Amino acid sequence: MKDKTIVLGVTGGIAAYKAALLASLLTKRGARVITVMTKGATRFITPLTLQSLTHLPVYTDIFDERDPSRITHIDLADSADLVVIAPATADFIARAAHGMADDLLSALLLATTAPVVFAPAMNVHMYGHPIVLRNLQTLREAGYHVAEPGEGPLACGYTGKGRLMEPEDIVEFMEMVLTPKRLHGMRVLVSAGPTRERIDPVRYLSNDSTGTMGYALAQAAWRMGATVTLVSGPVGIKPPVGVEVVSVESAGEMRTAVLGVANDQDAVIMAAAVADYRPALVSERKLKKGEGGRTLELIKNPDILAELCQSSNQRAYVVGFAAETHDAEFYAQKKLREKGADMLVLNNVLEPGAGFGAGTNRVTVFFADGDTVAVQRQPKLGVASEILALVAERLLRRRERKDALDPDA
Ligand code: C5P
Repeated sequence: MKDKTIVLGVTGGIAAYKAALLASLLTKRGARVITVMTKGATRFITPLTLQSLTHLPVYTDIFDERDPSRITHIDLADSADLVVIAPATADFIARAAHGMADDLLSALLLATTAPVVFAPAMNVHMYGHPIVLRNLQTLREAGYHVAEPGEGPLACGYTGKGRLMEPEDIVEFMEMVLTPKRLHGMRVLVSAGPTRERIDPVRYLSNDSTGTMGYALAQAAWRMGATVTLVSGPVGIKPPVGVEVVSVESAGEMRTAVLGVANDQDAVIMAAAVADYRPALVSERKLKKGEGGRTLELIKNPDILAELCQSSNQRAYVVGFAAETHDAEFYAQKKLREKGADMLVLNNVLEPGAGFGAGTNRVTVFFADGDTVAVQRQPKLGVASEILALVAERLLRRRERKDALDPDA
């Protein structure tokens, strides 16, 4: 969002008050937010609120042309990197679907060549009305993006689909729209988080993984246009927008979930910190304290990554992770060879600003063909985007090689 010019269109529904939060989030991310309100919107929230949050003028009237050297709706349309209409009422959707241009917002919508996001909000029956659905379909066919409303309690007293997408999620949706689609049409599976290996109903073995890196990879892959499945161990973070989440607990459950869909994937990224061992016996009842010590017998868990790489099918591009504390490069290269992955991402978990729970990471990427790429320390989402750009590049090369071998395929 940094340095992007966003035209925020606000139309007249009760969710208009949430446009203030959206304007504030976008401004904090470094965007220039220019607000355009319909007449109806100004009955729900004042232009002054949005002006105060964005520190930029707010436009409400197509005839209020103060500068004779410019035509406001064309100027705004040309300056936009993205136009977002939040909330978009049924009325505004209908007017946009029919190419009306009788106010500033509808006129600039026709004049802009920037991507446009509609975030509808209305009563559940209005949203389900065939005419509204048809109008939304018309907007999609015109190339507009629709940030679908969520389900929940509505201001009208009903509960159902029609709630404005949460402002944070609208920002994420806009980030997706602005990201080049290097993984368009690709399916990507990401595993994330720790696994829990049960000892008894109240105890387990686990590790310090928070899932942040895996979730960032899933988020970055979705932004780049992939259809993403996130197989996640137990974590306390919010799932990324647009991603299908499969929740698992143990390594055994993760193995079933990953191997079950691996054949449909173009890339599988094993970012999960899978427990290497599990208790040999799981007690159905809580183990009671005794007088002396206690020995826990552990048995080896299946290695999902290795199994994936050895499956004989024409398999996905497989990426492994290595979290090391010493002799990192030696162990990373060994893991890459022994498991048979196409790419291995090494992070030194003891390094400050890297590893479990940190907001940032610095990694080195090793490829099976001998290449190595160092990714600078930065927020995990940035690291994830760079890793996925490398995956996208390798998938493209693979496809080109395949096409060259079999031009008729
Ligand atoms: O051998 P190590 O656990 O260090 O390897 C780490 C990589 O292997 C990670 O990509 C992790 O997700 C994967 N792994 C796995 N199944 C295991 C252990 C690790 O897929 N049982």
